[in-house]
Amino acid sequence: MATVRLDQKSRAIVRSISDSYINAIASYFGSGPTDIAVAKAQHKAYSDALSSNGVDVTTLEADQNHPDCVFVEDQAVVIDGHVLLPVPGHESRRGEQPPIADFLVEQLKGHQICKMQSPAMMDGGDILRLGNLFFVGRSTRTNDAGIAELKDLLDHLGHELRVIDIPPHALHLTSICSTPSDQLILVPEGYLSPESFGVMPDGCEIIMMPQEEVYGCNTIGLPGNKVILAEGYPTVKSELENRGFECISIDMSQIRAADGSLTCCSIFY
Ligand code: GLY
Repeated sequence: MATVRLDQKSRAIVRSISDSYINAIASYFGSGPTDIAVAKAQHKAYSDALSSNGVDVTTLEADQNHPDCVFVEDQAVVIDGHVLLPVPGHESRRGEQPPIADFLVEQLKGHQICKMQSPAMMDGGDILRLGNLFFVGRSTRTNDAGIAELKDLLDHLGHELRVIDIPPHALHLTSICSTPSDQLILVPEGYLSPESFGVMPDGCEIIMMPQEEVYGCNTIGLPGNKVILAEGYPTVKSELENRGFECISIDMSQIRAADGSLTCCSIFY
């Protein structure tokens, strides 16, 4: 979800779970996938939730050589008529990018394509968009040179970028927060302070959530005041329901097991 506004969320790419998914990286909150059949069923429910809520979903084929290939968000960044193809931060994941890049180039004729060059590196999962304000996580996957390339693109588009240092116990910026709408950011206690986001634009708000619901802070907002969220995070759910959102809950246990969150599994374009 991370790099498009709500009004731009009509189409998305997802990618099937690889038969080698059991070997996906799990170095942060995941303990490693244990059941590929369940993972595939959960991924189908995810894709169905997008489709049945108005998103035109294209599913790319899995790559058996890349256990993490389902996590497409990291591989390409689409912002207002531009596609930034980052150098993914984990070396083992760099080969996931070509089919995603080919698809976007074919679909988005006329968009400007910017290809990041090493030693710059960045995962799409480190970018968060709040309306026309952007945040980027400086993390184990995203370095200063990668941030500089993103800033060049956003300067060109006239959008502000704010840098947030990701604590060592977190993977990506979007592993710990999300924007269920263009005005709200969900942030867990114990990971980031409200001050790390700077002064909020008029009408925007940071909602602090309990530390134990950090995984639930990753949500996908959709047009029509809908939000997809992971099952099992009651404070996040009730906070969103109290604000008038229609909540669509999904079991993400086998996706979470590979350090994956809701937003990791799609690219809106
Ligand atoms: N398993 C997701 C990642 O580490 O990138």
